[in-house]
Amino acid sequence: MDHFNYRDGELYAEDVALRQIAEEVGTPVYIYSTATLQRHFRVFKQPYGDMDVLVCFAMKANSNQAVLKTLAAEGAGADVVSGGELTRALRAGIPAEKIVFSGVGKTRDEMRMALDAGICQFNVESEAELITLSEVAKEEGKIAPVSMRVNPDVDAKTHAKISTGLAENKFGIAWQKAQEVYALIKELPAVEAVGIDMHIGSQLTALTPFAEAFSRIADLVTALREKGHNIKHLDLGGGLGIPYDPDMENPPEPEAYGEVVKKYASDLGCKLIFEPGRMIAGNAGILMSKVEYIKQGIDRRFVILDAAMNDLARPALYDAFHHIEPVKQPRKDADMTPSDFVGPVCESGDTFAKDRMAPPLSAGDLIIFRSSGAYGAVMANSYNSRALVPEVLVNGNKMAVIRKRETIDELIARDIVPDWL
Ligand code: LLP
Repeated sequence: MDHFNYRDGELYAEDVALRQIAEEVGTPVYIYSTATLQRHFRVFKQPYGDMDVLVCFAMKANSNQAVLKTLAAEGAGADVVSGGELTRALRAGIPAEKIVFSGVGKTRDEMRMALDAGICQFNVESEAELITLSEVAKEEGKIAPVSMRVNPDVDAKTHAKISTGLAENKFGIAWQKAQEVYALIKELPAVEAVGIDMHIGSQLTALTPFAEAFSRIADLVTALREKGHNIKHLDLGGGLGIPYDPDMENPPEPEAYGEVVKKYASDLGCKLIFEPGRMIAGNAGILMSKVEYIKQGIDRRFVILDAAMNDLARPALYDAFHHIEPVKQPRKDADMTPSDFVGPVCESGDTFAKDRMAPPLSAGDLIIFRSSGAYGAVMANSYNSRALVPEVLVNGNKMAVIRKRETIDELIARDIVPDWL
């Protein structure tokens, strides 16, 4: 459930009319709902009652300071994957002890930053990284808290580009090697095992892959403890899918996911760590765009928008489905015509939807792409010298620009012309 609904024939974000935002901020624009962010966070956490649980928002999904502060106020921690994200998390007031650091390629500088901050744990993805981390920690006079990311070799049954838990993927250490690598942790001078970590992919719409992976990891916790390793944290990653296309996907509710988690994890007595991104932010945001032109081709109608693949990359990258809705509610008996929704970028890949049934639309009309709060603004770029679009946060009847529209001057000012030109 989200808070983007029609009211008197117009789409609203909570109590703010989207049309008003278009007038004040222009289009394209990302719009987030505070109530939806809060609701998703609470719903995610709810199944665990008073168990020791830390929900680290995977801020790769959305790293705006205002979004992070909203979630921090709910008690969220952060899953970061770069020094940039770490800095953003700390700047938004997320306590270091609620931050986990994931990613296969952490640099020495990033390790140093995280050690200085005193984060909860490094999710280490290889022996080489482990050895480097120990060296860096030793130089800093610290002991780095480590959870090895174990690759459980489970098919997440999601898009190949966002699947991470198969042996063929670059992530984590093979589960068969876990004992060996934890033995290495004991030998190294400045790393200490605090837990174990996994993440098998994103936009999972079935529970079975989670269950297979949790079962494997739970067995490992027991086996590692038998060898004397101190496994206090069980980090189960993120990955819970959301309904982009309610007719096609029916991802499990957090409640059902929680039941699976508890089945495998309750008896282990670990602090449970989660890294959800999409489930928290995805349906808490939309991208609003304006129709520039309608072009009637020989056998198809093109709806040409002012938003493009550089603003919302998911359809071009993953053939992702985003529900498209006009801001003005169409009449119930409106004629529906198959339409291709495209952007102005000079590539055929700049297509958001093909043959999507759509009501009559004309130049100047506003439409939204639903489910754009995760992996939307963060993945935007300036291809075709298109400036980054703004972000707006709504809270009840309040709205605030939380990232202003970039200007072309700002964009060009990043270039440096050498003095020989
Ligand atoms: N933890 C780790 C280690 C991850 O790699 C990811 C996502 C997450 C947590 C969060 O997963 P989530 O709960 O959001 O599914 N750009 C792609 C998604 C890439 C996901 C990468 N890793 C997309 O737009 O679909």
